[in-house]
Amino acid sequence: MKILTISDIQAIITTLGFEDFLRRLVKTLETDFHRWPDFQKSARQATHFAHGVIELMPCSDQEYYTFKYVNGHPENTDHGKLNVVAIGQLSSVATGYPLMISDMTLLTALRTAATGGLAAKYLARDNSQSLAIIGNGAQSEFQTIVLAHLFPIREVRYYDTDYKAMVKFATNLAGSAFALKPCLNVAEAIHGADMIVTATAAKKKQCLFTLDQLAPGTYIQGIGGDCPGKTELSRELMMNAKVVVEHTLQSIVEGDIQQCSAADIYAELWQLVCEIKAGRENNTEITVFDSVGFALEDFSILTMIYGLANELQLGTDFELLPELDNPKDLYGLLRS
Ligand SMILES: NC(=O)c1ccc[n+]([C@@H]2O[C@H](COP(=O)([O-])OP(=O)(O)OC[C@H]3O[C@@H](n4cnc5c(N)ncnc54)[C@H](O)[C@@H]3O)[C@@H](O)[C@H]2O)c1
Repeated sequence: MKILTISDIQAIITTLGFEDFLRRLVKTLETDFHRWPDFQKSARQATHFAHGVIELMPCSDQEYYTFKYVNGHPENTDHGKLNVVAIGQLSSVATGYPLMISDMTLLTALRTAATGGLAAKYLARDNSQSLAIIGNGAQSEFQTIVLAHLFPIREVRYYDTDYKAMVKFATNLAGSAFALKPCLNVAEAIHGADMIVTATAAKKKQCLFTLDQLAPGTYIQGIGGDCPGKTELSRELMMNAKVVVEHTLQSIVEGDIQQCSAADIYAELWQLVCEIKAGRENNTEITVFDSVGFALEDFSILTMIYGLANELQLGTDFELLPELDNPKDLYGLLRS
């Protein structure tokens, strides 16, 4: 069985080049969302605590079964720990044997941003030039880079309640092709923006901005409203926008759409990818991708990284499971 550490994942991305990796990832996600009916899917199993959540996210086709263990602990960063860390496993459906265990912390940020990019291709205006990003923590650079890769972004306006997070964001993205503009508050950041990403972490109901603050035709990519009782966008906004989710059963409990009903969801992302439903239909509608993170996205990146690790001979093969001459003689392992 292969073990992929964070160093192996860094090596894979460096070898391929970040841009090539992202391009492949968006394509892999698009291909997998396009074959949505091929997958066995379910809403994730979430265990809630007063200060956070721990989740298990399974998904399978006829070849591979994957699951991810992931958490969300917004107060962790006050104590020098990441808000979100993750580990994933990929198994053979034919035998049920695990084939790979991998760190998924970086992979979660990448797949979340790439899924957002895929949604934006259908929901944002092609000529989007200004991006506002609210919440400049661990996910923020990934969100920005993917959207700037897919759209002709000229200006990124950013705001976080923590000034140090803003400085980190600007330092990491210095030298980009777009201009970076720090803002004093949310209102300044979103004023006239073509696209808005909300990536804040707080275990409470927030309303970062109201409908009347938005320019016509804005696209909103909300990734921080992803747990019961944890939202960023107002009910009024959700009721008046074209809202697309990943998986209705999961999103209606966890997304910003939890404030409304399933009838207020316009479509699931796969329906746009398969052209069953139209994406953006004019230049004035407000569109929202209410992202909570779905297990298929983890399946896509885990199968992709497994292929790359084999191709590049990266990762460590580990004898974690018993290898027996007689598979019925498990007790033989303990016979002296
Ligand atoms: N949808 C998905 O698939 C997905 C995937 C990963 C993370 N997430 C969610 O995305 C959010 C961000 O994750 P992260 O790893 O970047 O967290 P993080 O803790 O690293 O960063 C969050 C940032 O939000 C800022 N913030 C909090 N409230 C704010 C407010 N009202 N205005 C402006 N800034 C505010 C914090 O200061 C912090 O810098 C979390 O809520 C997380 O659960 C969603």
